[in-house]
Amino acid sequence: MNLSVTNSPFNEEQATQLNQIIQNLTPEQQTWLSGYLTANQQAVANGSAPTPQVAEYVLNNEPQANSDRHITILYGSETGNAQGLGEIFADRLVEHNYTVKLSSMDDFKPKDLKKVEDLFVISSTHGEGDPPDNALSFHEFLHGRKAPKLEGVRFSVLALGDESYEFFCQTGKDFDKRLEELGGERIIDRQDCDIDYDDLAEKWMNANIEKLNSSSGIQQQTVTSTETVASAKEKRYSKANPYRAEVLENINLNGRGSNKEVRHVELLLDNYGEEYEPGDCLVVIPENDPEIVTLLIDTLKFDETEEIAINEDGDTLPLRKALTEHFEITKLTKPLLQKAADLIGNTQLSEKVQDADWVHTYIDGRDLVDLFTDFPSETFKAENLHQLLRKLPPREYSIASSYKANPDEVHITVGAVRYHAHGRDRSGVCSVQLAERVQPGDTIPIYLKKNPNFKFPTDETPVIMIGPGTGVAPFRAYMQEREELGLESKTWLFFGEQHFTTDFLYQTEWQEWLKDDVLTKLDLAFSRDTDEKVYVQHRIAEHSATFYEWLMNGAALYVCGDEKQMAKDVHQTIRYVLEQEGGMSETEAEAYLTEMKKEKRYQRDVY
Ligand SMILES: Cc1cc2nc3c(=O)[nH]c(=O)nc-3n(C[C@H](O)[C@H](O)[C@H](O)COP(=O)(O)OP(=O)(O)OC[C@H]3O[C@@H](n4cnc5c(N)ncnc54)[C@H](O)[C@@H]3O)c2cc1C
Ligand SMILES: Cc1cc2nc3c(=O)[nH]c(=O)nc-3n(C[C@H](O)[C@H](O)[C@H](O)COP(=O)(O)O)c2cc1C
Repeated sequence: MNLSVTNSPFNEEQATQLNQIIQNLTPEQQTWLSGYLTANQQAVANGSAPTPQVAEYVLNNEPQANSDRHITILYGSETGNAQGLGEIFADRLVEHNYTVKLSSMDDFKPKDLKKVEDLFVISSTHGEGDPPDNALSFHEFLHGRKAPKLEGVRFSVLALGDESYEFFCQTGKDFDKRLEELGGERIIDRQDCDIDYDDLAEKWMNANIEKLNSSSGIQQQTVTSTETVASAKEKRYSKANPYRAEVLENINLNGRGSNKEVRHVELLLDNYGEEYEPGDCLVVIPENDPEIVTLLIDTLKFDETEEIAINEDGDTLPLRKALTEHFEITKLTKPLLQKAADLIGNTQLSEKVQDADWVHTYIDGRDLVDLFTDFPSETFKAENLHQLLRKLPPREYSIASSYKANPDEVHITVGAVRYHAHGRDRSGVCSVQLAERVQPGDTIPIYLKKNPNFKFPTDETPVIMIGPGTGVAPFRAYMQEREELGLESKTWLFFGEQHFTTDFLYQTEWQEWLKDDVLTKLDLAFSRDTDEKVYVQHRIAEHSATFYEWLMNGAALYVCGDEKQMAKDVHQTIRYVLEQEGGMSETEAEAYLTEMKKEKRYQRDVY
């Protein structure tokens, strides 16, 4: 059916444009679009921040589907990795003619679990082995008494994590164990993935599709896809295909005498070909400090020019280049120590790694130089390095600028990590590279990464921003965007640092925005300017009546910065505000905040 002015609410020009677009869409694209528009309408009706991603949609709802069994993919994702894989897997299954429902865990109604037939769970782990925010309530439901029996349900879990955390892939492990306890039948074994997850995710997807095909009676030996996980991501710039951005500015935001060094780094994004939004991240591919590389080569007594294998595929690099650009050398992990015990051939180390407490204590604040100094090896060779070391992970930074305000630039706010441990000064790989070894005019490899779970409203929704330290970065981006778009809704920033005089990041900009009404309210907490330490959560508590009033008027809450302490304290304080001002019990206040998270009115970008 063609749209016209008589059978639709559109004018002639709109109807013509829509007819042209709709005619070129495949049935899947039409289904997707209709889900997208419905989801957006619901978000607007709820007064929640509009999200650019569709939270839930059904793909390939067609009669010729490959199997009678319906497939559900649920993802739990904080910074978009698991969500991205969920989307790729859903597309793959549709390519293979399956009917697929893809949903974030917090958009999935627990009562629908009874109807699920084939369930794929893709989840990251955050905090200290905790589920990501959008998986919290589903995780709790599944582990509670109300979880249904899942006999007849087939499932498979892809767990994302980081081996340097003590509770590696814990949330994926939890889901996998619980689904089995509830009576589900595993399609294939759970796949745990470290930071570099593309290849393992690829294998997991293909192995699952093979199993589905064989149980649907489809003759197919090996599933390969026209598009791999890596190539799907490579359409844009990525880790494998980074953009070399020229550094325009690199300045210390702290005044003389500060205990901190926070760098404001501006990069040129000329012809990048993609836009970013406030809340998105910039990913930097760092290099190890040449001094640490030298120290390690000297400790190992290897030849820095020797060509060594960097993976099992036979790729090689000269040793110095491999240790500078390819391998992580400044962090010890439990799995690394286990591998070292096998490879180094040091009996003392082999004994010690049996003791989990010893491993836990030893890896804290030590690096590879310490390991090879404490446990020298007669047999370990440069060519064994790739068996021991993982790839140097890229580092994410919340973007501190608005694309609309600076289309050819991207800004980040980077806190230099420096500490002293076990008799040596130590530096964060990327932050100190940016602080000490990158000058204007240099280029660094980067790419942009969407963060679908940290998106700001452009409507009338009031916005409360809590961002001490470098956590202020995305709020600077949002302020620039508001100025550019002329947004008039109310905004309130809570910022904190150690000292007003040296550490008020972007001070003049905030004061200008306050003067110009781009920012409505500003509350500051400088912890070391008073006898008693004052943090942002204390300021929230001091203003609890107004804070509560803003929430009741539909304000959306954004928290960015330190995860370990700040985000937890802020959460508790907001719960306290709801209890004090709204007369809620602790459980009711917690439920209110959970609901806010579901509505995307409480979003966090914490690290
Ligand atoms: C979504 C997201 C957004 C982010 N946004 C920002 C941002 O806007 N600004 C920003 O500055 N950072 C941000 N980060 C953090 C950033 O990605 C890096 O983790 C940070 O810069 C440190 O990286 P690095 O390479 O300098 O340090 P690394 O080499 O990774 O070293 C840091 C590690 O050193 C160890 N360490 C640190 N102090 C001590 C100590 N006292 N004793 C023992 N061990 C210690 C810890 O293991 C710590 O994890 C963000 C992270 C994420 C995930
Ligand atoms: C603040 C923070 C805490 C994390 N905690 C853990 C953890 O406890 N265990 C783990 O295996 N991975 C942990 N990770 C790593 C993430 O699970 C990993 O980066 C994953 O790819 C993120 O996927 P997502 O973007 O879908 O959330 C953590 C990452 C961050 C930023």
